[in-house]
Amino acid sequence: MKTAVNPDANLAANSADAPPPAVLVAKHHKPEVEAAAYAARLNELHAISSPNTIPVSRPPIPSNLLSDLASCLESRWWGYGPRCAVLEQQFTARRGGWALATSSCTAALNVAAQLIRRSDGDEVIVPAITFVSTAMAFHIAGMHPIPVDVRPDTLLIDEESVIRHLTPRTRAVVVVHLYGQHQDVSGLRMLCDRHGLALIEDCAHRIGNLAETPAGDFACYSFNAVKEAPAGEGGLLWAREAKLESVAREITYLGMTIDTLQRSSTLLHRGYGFGCGSGGKLRLTDVAATFVLACLGHIDEWQAMRRSIFARYEKELPMAIDSVALFPRLVTDSCLMFVVRLPPAERSSIRRALADVGIATSTHYPSLSRHPLWSQFAGPCPVAEQAEDELLTLPCFPYMDSHAQDRVISAWETACR
Ligand SMILES: Cc1ncc(COP(=O)(O)O)c(C=O)c1O
Repeated sequence: MKTAVNPDANLAANSADAPPPAVLVAKHHKPEVEAAAYAARLNELHAISSPNTIPVSRPPIPSNLLSDLASCLESRWWGYGPRCAVLEQQFTARRGGWALATSSCTAALNVAAQLIRRSDGDEVIVPAITFVSTAMAFHIAGMHPIPVDVRPDTLLIDEESVIRHLTPRTRAVVVVHLYGQHQDVSGLRMLCDRHGLALIEDCAHRIGNLAETPAGDFACYSFNAVKEAPAGEGGLLWAREAKLESVAREITYLGMTIDTLQRSSTLLHRGYGFGCGSGGKLRLTDVAATFVLACLGHIDEWQAMRRSIFARYEKELPMAIDSVALFPRLVTDSCLMFVVRLPPAERSSIRRALADVGIATSTHYPSLSRHPLWSQFAGPCPVAEQAEDELLTLPCFPYMDSHAQDRVISAWETACR
């Protein structure tokens, strides 16, 4: 049974009795209130980005970015276009399949959902510890995400839990390479093949090797501001099955068969090419693709920088507190986030102490088994729910200098005394 809150229903209800938008704006528009709110927001941003504060993550600016952006701007083609095509080609040249640059990883997951969905009530099994997008992308496509428990050592999806939650309505299993850990999906691949299910890899935390063909039927990438190749926002869908590509392209461009670039590639613009299905505007822009392309060549170098910060933290943090648990690091780990586990009371006192000296921390993630939309479908998730209260993410990003690392370690030590 679907209990989704339907946002369209709200909109419809509001629009039925509300005055037209222009009247609303005139009535509620208070420039002085807006200006004060804007100034407060700027102050907040200033406080968290002042030179003395250490954020959890900070996007690097590759040396070639500014000149690449200048050429993109001068080309006068800023929407989905040739740079997106080059990016897609980078994800298929050595691994095959096809790729489509999307506005976000959420959009890529949502396109995958629309491609596999057969009917209302289709279910997709997702790990309980992940960002909400992993489930929401399927929910908004009319599927039921079923959050299941994760492994206690890695917090990656637990195969036994997946098996326990298979039903005749299951259409897909999603794995998340959480924090950059590479999950070996060979067992899940066999399981999906046996049951005729799609295997979807949420690669938001790990781009991985572009020469290696993903084991999943779909792999979804994120280029948002805290990921390995940041472009502010952006994503990419890779898929194996050739026959799905044209439908996927229509889904990301209003259901049309000819996009703006194709239409305007002749002086006498081509027609619009209505397809048979529906679609949104879910594509990447060439401006964002320029960011991603400039970053791709630096991924290994930036990963090495994060890895060396990991090595320091792993050596020096546990000395101050023995109840801290570190995740096993694999050679294939992108080291995107440095996450530890510690008892909830210690977590909050350490977070407070670090914040007092200008160091940001975060908690990735609350368990989806407690999400109001899906809690009723979720399997028992004791591991995920315990982890939710214990996870702590510390600052770690390329070019984080040794002084900033010293500050984190010494603030941690002070907090633990
Ligand atoms: C695991 C995971 N999946 C999906 C997403 C969604 O990515 P995007 O912000 O590009 O939509 C994120 C974003 O943080 C994520 O962490």
